[in-house]
Amino acid sequence: MIKEVRTEDGSLTLFSERFREPYHSVTAGAFTEAVEKFCKPCRIRERARTGKVNLLDVCFGLGYNTVAFINEALSENPKARLKIVSFEFDISVIEKSLKLDWREFNRWKWVLREALKNRRCERNTLVLSTEDPQVQLKIYITEGREFLKKFSCRYENFADAVFHDPFSPKVNPELWTYEFFKGTRGMTKETGILATYSTSTAVRRALHMAGFGVKEGVALGRKSKSTVASPSFKTEEKLLRKFKLPSSVPFRDPALSDPPGLISSRREGCINLLSRSLPLEVLY
Ligand SMILES: C[S@@+](CC[C@H](N)C(=O)[O-])C[C@H]1O[C@@H](n2cnc3c(N)ncnc32)[C@H](O)[C@@H]1O
Repeated sequence: MIKEVRTEDGSLTLFSERFREPYHSVTAGAFTEAVEKFCKPCRIRERARTGKVNLLDVCFGLGYNTVAFINEALSENPKARLKIVSFEFDISVIEKSLKLDWREFNRWKWVLREALKNRRCERNTLVLSTEDPQVQLKIYITEGREFLKKFSCRYENFADAVFHDPFSPKVNPELWTYEFFKGTRGMTKETGILATYSTSTAVRRALHMAGFGVKEGVALGRKSKSTVASPSFKTEEKLLRKFKLPSSVPFRDPALSDPPGLISSRREGCINLLSRSLPLEVLY
């Protein structure tokens, strides 16, 4: 049985037995996190005023980030047109989400209900979508790297905002690699902004290597600051200095297909090698 967890702001989330982590920050609050750590750093309200906003929602999960995005954008500009592209390998979590009380966001449940009803198959992949002219949502039910390989070419230069929200790099490293961010960069506009809750130097370095400028984001709850990145930002000097440390070695997944355990141990191996001071005769 999947466990419900009440978070700091009173909103409910679920606990994943497989990843041994909750789907949202319990200390920040699930819906508060969606607004403060994802919508605000990506300036969703400001972009909604232009009339159109495109979101790449990395890991659909319970759909809270997408729902907060719709709510923020349409509260700011009720005429805005929104496109959301997302992926998720566990369709059952979307179904479970609809059984929870979303409180003030209940009015957006129709979006997920319609997507769950409207199913089709594209390139051997199940796709859920809404046909609403104002809120166009597409969720690819597949593994994230498969989504990149099969479908990212459809979304080159697509995203004004990227909400990067897998489980932590420790348990979900395949979605935090240099190669994954490189694929994400291709889907992001020059002015697009990526927001993530992670503050890991390895993650920040991978983003930097993939073509994003990287900055520290806001702090929320008891956790430290988050991360914002954009092709149009310049990476902060203090972060560039940290990228020289062995512990900043990024996760790598050259063919976007390695098992998570291998991705983690490859990184640990590199850090060990770099941390060991090798005798000069070995170096030359
Ligand atoms: C932290 S939750 C995302 C929460 C979500 N953003 C929300 O607002 O509700 C991470 C999600 O990523 C999915 N996931 C983890 N690894 C994945 C992978 N390799 N490919 C596709 N989905 C993955 C999990 O099933 C889970 O639903």
